[in-house]
Amino acid sequence: MNLIRIAVAAATLLASGAAFAVGPEPKTPEEAAGKQVFTHCAACHSLDSSKNAFGPSLYNVVGRKAGSVPRFEYSDAIKASGITWTEDNLRKWIADNEKLVPGTRMRHIAITDKAEQDYLIAFLKSLKQ
Ligand code: HEC
Repeated sequence: MNLIRIAVAAATLLASGAAFAVGPEPKTPEEAAGKQVFTHCAACHSLDSSKNAFGPSLYNVVGRKAGSVPRFEYSDAIKASGITWTEDNLRKWIADNEKLVPGTRMRHIAITDKAEQDYLIAFLKSLKQ
């Protein structure tokens, strides 16, 4: 009986996990390429609209004030950064987040390829509610 319950719970988790990774359907080749680059981010950032995971939701992130998602425990560093997530700042963040905001809790990311950055930003722009 317990085993069955565990199996059902695992299946449910898997099913919700699949929905998790889906996100919006890419509308342009750039967004589709960006969704591929997002595999570097998906372990911590949910594609399930406003859900926070290990990292905050990235829906509506473009143009948003850093550290402003409700119910997410940000580091003091990001809360005090005074940054707005313009395309330019997002580019700096994904190239070297610790350089842009020393003391951030996000693991170091180094996407320095300009095309990959463009694609990723195109995809992030498509995350809207
Ligand atoms: C290992 C987990 C992890 C990975 C991988 C990761 N992030 Fe993060 N991300 C976080 C955490 C945790 C925070 C909160 C940082 C803080 O509070 O200092 C964060 C914060 C952010 C923020 C700031 C959001 C806000 O509301 O101010 C952006 C933008 C972001 N991440 C984008 C990305 C992108 C794009 C990628 C992939 C290239 C990525 N992250 C990969 C964990 C991660």
